[in-house]
Amino acid sequence: MKVATSILNCDFNKLEEEIKKISTSDYLHLDVMDGHFVPNISFGYPVLKNLQNITNISLDSHLMIENPYDYIDDFEKIGSKIITIHIEANKPIETIKRIKNKGIKAGISLKPNTKIEELLPVLETIDLVLVMTVEPGFGGQTFMKEQMKKVEYLAKLREKHGYKYVIQVDGGINDETIDFVRNTGVDIVVAGTYITKSKNPKKAIESLRWK
Ligand code: DX5
Ligand code: ZN
Repeated sequence: MKVATSILNCDFNKLEEEIKKISTSDYLHLDVMDGHFVPNISFGYPVLKNLQNITNISLDSHLMIENPYDYIDDFEKIGSKIITIHIEANKPIETIKRIKNKGIKAGISLKPNTKIEELLPVLETIDLVLVMTVEPGFGGQTFMKEQMKKVEYLAKLREKHGYKYVIQVDGGINDETIDFVRNTGVDIVVAGTYITKSKNPKKAIESLRWK
């Protein structure tokens, strides 16, 4: 299991120090929020542009914004290895094409109330599917176990059709809820609060890998 650490709840006044504490993460998960698509504003290009100068962890950008198409260049510039957009956002198909044309891995996500069938048209081309296990907008919420049905469905479809996407889950992951995620076909877990607020973030990362 790979671990993507969300820096949403990090102390941005000492970001470099905070990132050192989680340097064993497989990815840095960047939760970008515009206050329209979700009821919260986080950070964008001006804050993230120099991230690559302070870390070489792969950047996994999760865009919870209404018009992702207009911001793909920015997230290419910061050095994203993966850019994930939401199916509920504007122009998802065009945006996925734009990401892939740049040679960046494209991910698609869906909110808890969105039906998994909405993703069917993109599953053949997409590199990653991100199943939200909380309502997007804030860190520190409770894991929604019933969302794992979507993972089950995605894992079956992947097997049946030979699709290439990896499956990621995001929201409310800790050393207990990880038990619902293991052996289900999930390849990457995103965790924020559990890791960044832990006394020993590296141990917290390991507990998600192996437990
Ligand atoms: C929610 C974000 C998540 C979240 C993870 O909108 O996409 O990445 O911050 O944080 P925790 O692990 O605290 O739920
Ligand atoms: Zn996220």
